[in-house]
Amino acid sequence: HEEFTKVKNIATIELGRYEIETWYFSPFPPEYNDCLRLYFCEFCLNFMKRKEQLQRHMRKCDLKHPPGDEIYRSGTLSMFEVDGKKNKVYGQNLCYLAKLFLDHKTLYYDVDLFLFYVLCECDDRGCHMVGYFSKEKHSEESYNLACILTLPPYQRKGYGKFLIAFSYELSKKESKVGTPERPLSDLGLLSYRGYWTRVLLDILKKHKGNISIKELSDMTAIKAEDILTTLQSLELIQYRKGQHVICADPKVLDRHLKAAGRGGLDVDVSKLIWTPYK
Ligand code: COA
Ligand code: NA
Repeated sequence: HEEFTKVKNIATIELGRYEIETWYFSPFPPEYNDCLRLYFCEFCLNFMKRKEQLQRHMRKCDLKHPPGDEIYRSGTLSMFEVDGKKNKVYGQNLCYLAKLFLDHKTLYYDVDLFLFYVLCECDDRGCHMVGYFSKEKHSEESYNLACILTLPPYQRKGYGKFLIAFSYELSKKESKVGTPERPLSDLGLLSYRGYWTRVLLDILKKHKGNISIKELSDMTAIKAEDILTTLQSLELIQYRKGQHVICADPKVLDRHLKAAGRGGLDVDVSKLIWTPYK
């Protein structure tokens, strides 16, 4: 994709009951170059140029939720795991859609190598996508998340932190530490900083006695480097006699916790039914 094609083409999309303004360029196939607006099927994520096409499609499409396995349900929230190899078109559609809200990520055409975790709000009409994250099936760099998106109408309600928490719950089940793929966007970094701060400081508050970064990492599946940078940015780390020492004055912790914002929606681990990808 040459530089000159990277102007934002699609200005608006329709998805479910929402009309959403897009943020960035996404490399849709050339036949969509002249479109300002695209109509998405909210279930299979096929996209169309005209509203009538979508209406016709909706009468035929039998999907009422993302393809793949429902691995989590709590109240009206569900998570589906979609294997990009088994559901290639869905995976590609999701990437086209997501790129409209992601600046610097290159689009993966190789969806085979990824699993997609799609968060939905469910009602009697079906499971409506709220956001998702993608994850490499095998990551050399211990990435537990590649791309993360909350669709704009659902942003700032705690779903981002839910998705992040979910990615770490999967890592715990794999007995691995994880870290998000870099670079992170500004909003991505803010969300991760908030999540890391809350999780780590909650532990430090409750913990009696010394605790090491390694122990924190084992408990949370957060990679040691991310723990170190988080605690350093909060000025909770001192370097004494060649060792990092965590200072955990309860008053200081409370102040940071307040500043870290709301906790978001919690993942109820007892509702997660999942075995790691082999
Ligand atoms: N302005 C300021 N802070 C914001 C913000 C905004 N518009 N959006 C999120 N944040 C920060 C806040 O600290 C927020 O916590 P708070 O509401 O308790 O203060 C925290 O991030 C997470 O909020 P949350 O509601 O859990 O996240 P979200 O559902 O809005 O999703 C993203 C966060 C990053 C997934 C979402 O902004 C998004 O999809 N962005 C576009 C795609 C992207 O940049 N992805 C990351 C790159 S890989
Ligand atoms: Na990515």
